[in-house]
Amino acid sequence: MKILGIETSCDETAAAIVEDGEKILSNVVASQADLHAKYGGVVPEVAARSHIEVMLPVVEQALVQAGVSWDDIDGIAVTHGPGLLGSLLIGTLTARTLAELKGKPLYGVNHLEGHVYANYLAADTKPNFPYLALIVSGAHTQLVLYRAHHDYQLLGQTLDDAVGEAFDKVARMLGLSPTQGGPAIAKAAENGNDKTFTFPKAKTGDNFSFSGLKTAVLRQAQQLAGGDFRTPSFEIHNKLTNQQIADLAASFQKVAIDTLVDHTVKAYEAHHPKSVVIGGGVAANQLLRDQLAKRLPIPVHFTEQNLCTDNAAMIAAIGYHYARAGKNIPPALLKVEPALSM
Ligand code: KG4
Ligand code: ZN
Repeated sequence: MKILGIETSCDETAAAIVEDGEKILSNVVASQADLHAKYGGVVPEVAARSHIEVMLPVVEQALVQAGVSWDDIDGIAVTHGPGLLGSLLIGTLTARTLAELKGKPLYGVNHLEGHVYANYLAADTKPNFPYLALIVSGAHTQLVLYRAHHDYQLLGQTLDDAVGEAFDKVARMLGLSPTQGGPAIAKAAENGNDKTFTFPKAKTGDNFSFSGLKTAVLRQAQQLAGGDFRTPSFEIHNKLTNQQIADLAASFQKVAIDTLVDHTVKAYEAHHPKSVVIGGGVAANQLLRDQLAKRLPIPVHFTEQNLCTDNAAMIAAIGYHYARAGKNIPPALLKVEPALSM
């Protein structure tokens, strides 16, 4: 079964064709990162306008790259939430229109489930149920227990910043990168000592919290910069040495990753899953992968870096399971749900 996936929840316009939820026939991602870099973050209006411009060419490219025609497509899966309202509208309306015009079943899927199902793509071994899914992206931090396809339970989520958001904000504060915070922190941390500073771990039960950690890094940086607490956060890095920046990055990364791993180990002890899958942009973090593998006695599944970040192959992968369960929706009824949760 060949599913066309469409993804526009944030600042990537993406389309992909995946066979049987596993085999990638094409995977096209048009990133808007350069467009938003000068604003220091994603501007919803700009994102939506850019999606409109490239949406149809991206779908066309996905068909060409896969070497298939519309006749070969068995269904269309699209992210209808969570995400930015204007961005979601473009992908969803495109999918609704194409489903109607081409006479294909339509599946409105949850972006976060997509991040979990990225682990079924191009994988030698598939995750075994029941498994824990740690979803860690720029907008979400969730721990979910999957008993079977479509049968899951949310165990905990962030009460404030997502972990990827914390990486991005700390990276901006340290002058490391305006947009690619996660990889920039990881790279800077390689030259730092993670024991230089002791940052606090939030005590929030089964839920996560990262805003206190971010503020603790800011206060430490301000102190190192001469104790002038009036310096705007984006200027502090000018007063820090490269070594101080590297030590701050390493000490921050250690606590952020330890927090994720502590929660996952605790959930493992409570629920005894057979495996753990990680999804979302932060799943690309090597320390997270290493620490989970080290501290858990069960297989830890993660996927290639470009499948961890937003893409439409993962949307087609979960779309396949919606199709198998007969969960299609009449095109006219599919609504966007910016605050959709698991
Ligand atoms: O899943 P994603 O592409 O977009 C959302 O759905 O939010 O995740 C993007 C997030 C960003 O916050 C980025 O800084 C983070 O993933 N990220 C990383 C790494 N690579 C990307 N965080 C930590 N370490 C990395 N290597
Ligand atoms: Zn995402």
